[in-house]
Amino acid sequence: MCGIVGYVGKHKVKDILLEGLKELEYRGYDSAGIAVLQEDNFSFYKAVGKLDNLVQKTADFNPEGFAIGIGHTRWATHGKPTELNAHPHLGESSYVVHNGIIENYQEIKNRLLADGVRFLSQTDTEVIVHLFEKYLKSEPTPFDAFKKTLAELEGAYAVLLATKSLPDTIFFAKNGSPMILGLSEDNEKIFASSDAPLIGHAKDVLYLDDGEYGYVTPTELQLFDKNDKAVQPSLSALPTSKLSAQKEGFRFFMEKEIYEQSVVISDTFLGRIQDTGIHFEELDPALFDDINEIKLCACGTSFHAALAASYLFERYAKIRSSVEIASEFRYKEPLLMKDTLFVVISQSGETADSLETLKMAKEAGLKTLVICNVDNSSMVRLADASILTRAGIEKGVASTKAFATQMSVLWMLSLYVAKKRDTLSDEEMLHQLQSLREVPNSVKVTDTLHEKIRRLSKRYLHGHGFFFIGRDVFFPLALEGALKLKEITYLHAEGYPSGEMKHGPIAMADPDLITIALMPKHMLYEKAKSNVEELSARDSTICAISPIEFDKADDFIKTHQRDHYMLEFFEMMVALQLLSMEISVRLGNDVDMPRNLAKSVTVE
Ligand code: G6P
Repeated sequence: MCGIVGYVGKHKVKDILLEGLKELEYRGYDSAGIAVLQEDNFSFYKAVGKLDNLVQKTADFNPEGFAIGIGHTRWATHGKPTELNAHPHLGESSYVVHNGIIENYQEIKNRLLADGVRFLSQTDTEVIVHLFEKYLKSEPTPFDAFKKTLAELEGAYAVLLATKSLPDTIFFAKNGSPMILGLSEDNEKIFASSDAPLIGHAKDVLYLDDGEYGYVTPTELQLFDKNDKAVQPSLSALPTSKLSAQKEGFRFFMEKEIYEQSVVISDTFLGRIQDTGIHFEELDPALFDDINEIKLCACGTSFHAALAASYLFERYAKIRSSVEIASEFRYKEPLLMKDTLFVVISQSGETADSLETLKMAKEAGLKTLVICNVDNSSMVRLADASILTRAGIEKGVASTKAFATQMSVLWMLSLYVAKKRDTLSDEEMLHQLQSLREVPNSVKVTDTLHEKIRRLSKRYLHGHGFFFIGRDVFFPLALEGALKLKEITYLHAEGYPSGEMKHGPIAMADPDLITIALMPKHMLYEKAKSNVEELSARDSTICAISPIEFDKADDFIKTHQRDHYMLEFFEMMVALQLLSMEISVRLGNDVDMPRNLAKSVTVE
């Protein structure tokens, strides 16, 4: 996820910007840049890759005295990680940095292109600076031009803009992406995407709300709310530890990542869910021509996303779908047919087993698609096409938000293919799109849910094992629930299809066998209920997760009534993530870095 810093003051502007960007490294990035304005002289530097590359490029640049500066670490979403696509973006006399996605950028860009504006990058961001400069010519003041620019932007953004016409001012705006303003004792102003860069510099901070915008100068801070009303900034004190600032108040990165799922899913949807279907700017629709099967391949959590997706592809797009564990697929001498689209799912884009299967598919002449969280990763570079999940960097080794965004992309992709193959009625498509829009809401963690799970967790520290059970897409979700538990609690857990328990595992049922039962209202409820009753009759300890009260359960986590089973899927996913985390906490384990595991496994 991109990171932003900004500075107005008389101290070492370059050092403050670069140190600030360093503190934002944990958000993940693939390129970085800064622009500094002193009097009417702009200097700017950009570099791809690690921040050290930017540090080296700026080694001889040491401005002294008053300056304003903006800086950015970029996590590519529109356009490759290149220097031209790195921020700040330049107009004739202004620079901008932006975090978020401008959904209507193409429409604005087309208009500006028609006016003869030249674009240097493939980013959505560049439209902001050109639009601003267009209005700079017609509006009475630069701030009016900034306001007029904001009025046209749709989507999510945190924006800083500096312009030669006001060399002591930074314009700022926040809508849906994080931005904080810190004030030092000397009245310096420092912007950042999170608290960490401000610690040690700022005394007070202003947490900007969505829709707020304004400007800062050495002596002023002008703030306006979403109704264009001037408001008094309400300042708060800064946290004191940098690590805890990176965790944004949460105890663990995993906890923070569970809580931010709603936001990253919204990011993943931006510009993709349209009125009558799904749009993936990065896909050539011809990718699906002459394709009669989709083969999905992955490891770990990504494999569970693949398995769940296979149900969606067959159900909505009526296309044969099969799923493979990458490490198995490599050596099974698979038959690869040219009418198969080979889809690899990977958070990192570097997992060795998955990467090898991609190479095999390419060598066999299949069309390939990667669903990945990291642009420019080995898989993204190798595949014919890629769709980026926009989860931002995931620090917890146990994957949470990456899975959530993979499932979001895969549900969208099943509808994209359904449209292409004309397998859903218009009415059904609209219902699906409407349900998709509800996903960010369905994954919001409420205090009631978290507290309930925290209390329940104390009852699950013993026993001779856990079975997570579910049907249909809730079976892969059960696998994922069991994997989360294994990864961070080291307790034995298995995921199983509910209907399969009677074919063996039910022999283990006794009070020390704990069954976590997924019982959604809108997917085979009665069938799942019978399966759980069979276990309950044999005295297994049952924790049911369902929107419907179930009196045969020892414990019950009540989910909301939702009108699509996939929304139940997403809500139950959150409950399972929290359950593993709270058990892990009680057992005193390292939640973010469980023993024996690595975030990215680049060996066979
Ligand atoms: C490792 C991680 C898992 C992840 C798996 C696949 O085992 O610990 O969390 O699911 O790799 O990773 P990928 O980056 O390909 O999704």
